[in-house]
Amino acid sequence: MVYTVLGIETSCDETAAAVVTSDRKILAHTVLSQTKEHAPYGGVVPEIASRAHIAHIESIIARTMQEAGLDFHHLDAVAATAGPGLIGGVIVGVMTAKAIASAASIPFIAVNHLEGHALTPRLIEDVAFPYLLLLVSGGHCEFLRVSQVGQYQKLGGTIDDAVGEAFDKVAKMLGLGYPGGPQIEALAKEGDIDRYALPLPLIRQEANCQMSFSGLKTAVKRIIDTWDKPFDPQNIRNLAASFQRTIGDILCNRLAHAIRQYLVAAEDSDDSDIRRFVLSGGVAANRYLRKRLIEVLEQHDFTLFAPPLSLCTDNGAMIAWAGVEHLQLGHQSSLAFAPRPRWPLSEL
Ligand code: KG4
Ligand code: ZN
Repeated sequence: MVYTVLGIETSCDETAAAVVTSDRKILAHTVLSQTKEHAPYGGVVPEIASRAHIAHIESIIARTMQEAGLDFHHLDAVAATAGPGLIGGVIVGVMTAKAIASAASIPFIAVNHLEGHALTPRLIEDVAFPYLLLLVSGGHCEFLRVSQVGQYQKLGGTIDDAVGEAFDKVAKMLGLGYPGGPQIEALAKEGDIDRYALPLPLIRQEANCQMSFSGLKTAVKRIIDTWDKPFDPQNIRNLAASFQRTIGDILCNRLAHAIRQYLVAAEDSDDSDIRRFVLSGGVAANRYLRKRLIEVLEQHDFTLFAPPLSLCTDNGAMIAWAGVEHLQLGHQSSLAFAPRPRWPLSEL
């Protein structure tokens, strides 16, 4: 039996919808980014995000259904991000999904946004469980052991800022636009990665794979505070390159520890074929960081599964796919499910 699921994503600054089938077909996929609305503020403004979701959700879903050539009653379920995220946006997506579910008499599935990212590679190919996941986005930065649908063990994560957030904040300090990641990556190509020495917080912690990025941001600020205005463009490039390299140093060091923890956790199972690594979240778009991480993976004989970039950043297909995975296991949510602004994967 092939299932067809509509997925709705509204937890941050993308209003997105997609229709996905259980045989891995993306029938339609629409993402409306609010980047321009938030750009003047250098970050996502929750109130602006909620209003934009309300303004666009209906037309985005209508367009997606039209592109898929389906009516709501053709669907087997409707899934929506029910947390974690900005609560105003999450409510818009969840209420819309519940309305569709009750009007079309189909199941509603409340999806954890992080679970959406965690399961995305399985929408592309048949990636077996378990795998080690690094989720790096504007709001999240964690290593997880993905054992089954619904079974996630956090191995470690940031104790302060997420990586994407650090990119965005440093970009703002450098007078670059939002989102900062792509701009820093572009400028870093023409900068000197060794020009500035920046701190590597927590990398001496051998027993875990915790991360910290807020001290790095402060160190960048101290350097910028010594510059005359307007900033010398080559200084900007050099600092962008040094910052990105430092992020790479931290992630590579922490990945090696996460791999150790992941393998230790598997020691009592006789599965020798578990050396799989999945990279997901918006920061996974960064080619320099991917290259750095691949070096570590090769040293440890791990295979990398990285979803295409359009599925790494927030989208409806990842939510629809998580819905498919749950539907296949016979799961569905009550229409009384309350959106959860905070919803750690470990509580699934
Ligand atoms: O997954 P995502 O679209 O949304 C969240 O759930 O946060 O990730 C957006 C984040 C932003 O912080 C953005 O600066 C970062 O991903 N990002 C990048 C790159 N492209 C996007 N960071 C570094 N390098 C990039 N090329
Ligand atoms: Zn996300």
